[in-house]
Amino acid sequence: MNLATESGLPAQKMKKIWAIGGGKGGVGKSLVSANVAICLALMGNKVVAVDLDLGGANLHTCLGLPIPSVTLSDYVSKRVTNFEDLLVPTPISNLRIISGAQDEIGMANLKHMHKNQIIRKLHDLDADYILFDLGAGTAFNTIDFFISADKGILVVLPEPTSIENTYRFIKSVFYRRLKMIEGISEIEPLIEEAMSAKIASGSTTSPADLVKRISDINPEVGLRIKDELSHFRPNLIINQVRSQADIDIGYSIQSICRKYFGIEMTFPGYLDYDASVWQSVRKRKPLLIEYPNSKLVNNFDRIVNRLIES
Ligand SMILES: Nc1ncnc2c1ncn2[C@@H]1O[C@H](COP(=O)(O)OP(=O)(O)OP(=O)(O)O)[C@@H](O)[C@H]1O
Ligand SMILES: [Mg+2]
Repeated sequence: MNLATESGLPAQKMKKIWAIGGGKGGVGKSLVSANVAICLALMGNKVVAVDLDLGGANLHTCLGLPIPSVTLSDYVSKRVTNFEDLLVPTPISNLRIISGAQDEIGMANLKHMHKNQIIRKLHDLDADYILFDLGAGTAFNTIDFFISADKGILVVLPEPTSIENTYRFIKSVFYRRLKMIEGISEIEPLIEEAMSAKIASGSTTSPADLVKRISDINPEVGLRIKDELSHFRPNLIINQVRSQADIDIGYSIQSICRKYFGIEMTFPGYLDYDASVWQSVRKRKPLLIEYPNSKLVNNFDRIVNRLIES
């Protein structure tokens, strides 16, 4: 039963928060964030895109905006006290942006309290969709922003370094989620041991084995962990695809994650390699608006629709 419709009121949309990450720099996280945001806004949703690449913010460029006059640093340093004042309009109606820090004064190492406060403020923004464009790497802040979102999206290039970084990113999220479960201090040493093991070395316990071991020691904790991990279902986007073999890498990553981590990944689609991307970046124009005939228009359309449905 839908209470909103029954009562004659229009059904309220649920706010959705999507985080776009991936271990490696330059894989297309900002491109994806900007263009997914544009797609959602063109569909009539109220969207806020947030640049959380603290220290290397450039989401504004992918949206064709100059460096915004207010950024998250202004809030952290208390030059701006009202969080909503960080919202900057874009030429695309329904789409606003919060810019990350241009300077590095403490932003990349955002203190715990500030980070939690910022996460709360971001979640409270008035919008249908809030997108987080994350920085590269597996810093605590990045992982925590990722975990706070309803949906995590990982952008991967079909090349070994990017794939390795993706596993590293998933591993960091996996263990961070485990450590957030309350009352598991007795198995913390096991987690530490597994965390320090290298993914590549065959002799070490995989995260999926770790969960089995924990379940044997303490079935009740095992169940809690399985429940927590069942909510960890990252979405994969393979970017700069040039062949079917590149697309198939998405399916391999899905199957490795199932075996190694015991987690299910969703693969909403891929993005072709397309020269119009760097042309749009060079012209400082949003790709989907400036190049409506680019192959990426269909790619993004499919990805966004699948993400909305999943
Ligand atoms: N599908 C594509 N086709 C062609 N070039 C692409 C594609 N995707 C990304 N690029 C190129 O890669 C560059 C980096 O993309 P982007 O800035 O979105 O990566 P990023 O992951 O956000 O990087 P950073 O980690 O530095 O924030 C773009 O400027 C563009 O030149
Ligand atoms: Mg970026």
